[in-house]
Amino acid sequence: MPLQNSTTRYGSVTRFLHWAVFLFFVHQYLGGNFMTRIEGGHTLFGLTQGNYYDWHKSIGLVLLLLVVVRIVWRKLTSLPDWAPTLTPAERTISHWNETLLYACMILMPVTGYLFVMAGDYGIKLFGLYDLFNPIGKQAWLADVARVAHIVISYVVVVVLSWHVGLGLKHHIFDRDGFLRRMLPFSKP
Ligand code: HEM
Ligand code: HEM
Repeated sequence: MPLQNSTTRYGSVTRFLHWAVFLFFVHQYLGGNFMTRIEGGHTLFGLTQGNYYDWHKSIGLVLLLLVVVRIVWRKLTSLPDWAPTLTPAERTISHWNETLLYACMILMPVTGYLFVMAGDYGIKLFGLYDLFNPIGKQAWLADVARVAHIVISYVVVVVLSWHVGLGLKHHIFDRDGFLRRMLPFSKP
């Protein structure tokens, strides 16, 4: 499979970035819910609440980096034409839906970072290195960023429902092989 996108299909770099971001998002939602629900002193699958926080913050920052790479790559390569089976309305909604997805992919890690730095909780990268805090304690910013982080995490679920629902509807009910456009290793 070619690295770059062509007018008819996504290349391997776009597919890799798409599914890496997806897997990291799954990690963030599972970890985010575990860490806020485990009681201090307890463990879950052998990991403490502190472990889950460290990994959530660290993978969140890796995600930010990955999303920046993804946006740069998207600017460098052309996008394939829309799937011919998408109606004009589905194309318009998908265009705005994908724009919103990109906004959420940036806003989630940024609000998380602002919350922990402005709250002076800090980040121990993968439990190893304390990151420098360039913001310093600012209670109001921590409060705003925390609320934004939680609210946007629900917005993502709504926005993704259209994205995943549309893909599954076309692939399963219309049987047009739509998911093969993005699945790894699949032929057009
Ligand atoms: C965190 C979760 C996800 C995000 C943020 C996301 C985001 C995106 C974005 C932005 C695109 C446009 C192409 C690009 O810019 O790379 C895209 C394309 C696509 N995604 Fe996802 N996606 C996610 C999960 C999924 C899942 C779970 C599925 C399968 C059920 C899926 C199936 C597809 C397909 C088939 C395309 C190609 C659509 C087309 O060619 O019109 N995505 N995704
Ligand atoms: C795309 C990246 C990220 C995603 C998808 C994500 C997702 C989530 C989710 C789903 C929750 C649970 C919200 C709830 O209570 O219902 C959460 C909580 C949290 N996240 Fe993230 N997160 C991301 C990045 C980050 C980053 C980079 C940091 C910090 C550096 C961070 C720090 C936190 C903290 C401290 C909480 C607990 C908030 C509270 O006190 O309730 N997150 N995140």
